[in-house]
Amino acid sequence: MMASIAANIEQLEKVLTGEIASAGDEAALEAVRVSALGKKGAVSELLRGLGGMSPEDRQINGPLINGLKIRVTDEINARREILKAQALEERLATETVDVTLPVREPAVAQGRVHPVAQVVDELIAIFADMGFSIAEGPHIENDNYNFTALNIPEDHPARQEMDTFYFDPREDGSRRLLRTHTSPVQIRTMLSTKPPIRIIAPGRVFRCDYDQTHTPMFHQVEGLVIDKQANLGNLKWVLEEFLKAFFEVPNVKMRFRASHFPFTEPSMEVDVGCTRVGNELKIGEGDGWLEILGCGMVHPNVLRNVGLDPAEYQGFAWGMGIDRIAMLKYGIPDLRTFFASDLRWLKHYGFAALDLPSLAGGLSR
Ligand code: DAH
Repeated sequence: MMASIAANIEQLEKVLTGEIASAGDEAALEAVRVSALGKKGAVSELLRGLGGMSPEDRQINGPLINGLKIRVTDEINARREILKAQALEERLATETVDVTLPVREPAVAQGRVHPVAQVVDELIAIFADMGFSIAEGPHIENDNYNFTALNIPEDHPARQEMDTFYFDPREDGSRRLLRTHTSPVQIRTMLSTKPPIRIIAPGRVFRCDYDQTHTPMFHQVEGLVIDKQANLGNLKWVLEEFLKAFFEVPNVKMRFRASHFPFTEPSMEVDVGCTRVGNELKIGEGDGWLEILGCGMVHPNVLRNVGLDPAEYQGFAWGMGIDRIAMLKYGIPDLRTFFASDLRWLKHYGFAALDLPSLAGGLSR
């Protein structure tokens, strides 16, 4: 009995020593440790066996088994140190860092917001602050909303001037079209919303035209205010506040020129004062004038067309080119480059993705 325990211990030690030596990494070594010294490990079993022995046997076997436990523990610890050092060597050899490489920017830092999207965000920040909401309409419009309801009858020259993209006529003869301005959103809003109305409607518009300042698709923002007493003085104030906030200057000189739009009466075009210093254009003050938008009091016929009584309701509207004011504010010379999808251009003229424009935090920073 005694002899066989001593032999068992010797045999077990040989096996364990071999396993420890051949454990290739810390996980394998840990498995050996559990199989020997864990709760149900071979050495632990032997130790548990001591409890059932006679005092004499225990006196002889106790030191033998404990000696085994101590040696195996030492061997495992020694092997672990070696494996740790090896693993570190390996990492140092494989995970080299070339500190001369350029720092790669994360995706958010590389992305840019297009100037048109930036200006739309700025418009929304400014007009939301004045209590306006955002309205939308479809790009594909019908003739009624794009023209007729806006007091542009069939034979009106404005229809030819607009260079409209038409779709093929339907069976009933009606033709749909790509909206030539954002003004149809006025009609849609007045049909769906009870006054008082205060909206801006930014979006894409389409005209068959192409040169340095015209592209077949461009962007406009429409403004509409309808209530019982909205007047020209209110219109002037709204536009002036907008222009100061947008161009980020304390004063903007404005000039209202009599004009003609079928959907407003009276109609005006607005110029802003500007100075040219060398290549730089400064908006606000100066001897120069730049045309910036069209506006007027909503024509009584337009109110009637949407079922509003002109004796009860009145209002004002304006329309402005978004791309154009982006070009003026950010000094971009050619409209066609807006839609060329040139990443170098976007890197130069674009805006950081996470800088949302706000009146408090600054529009363009
Ligand atoms: N719809 C006009 C255009 O595209 C712009 C415009 C002028 C809109 C005067 C208006 C306005 O709402 O009152 O040329």
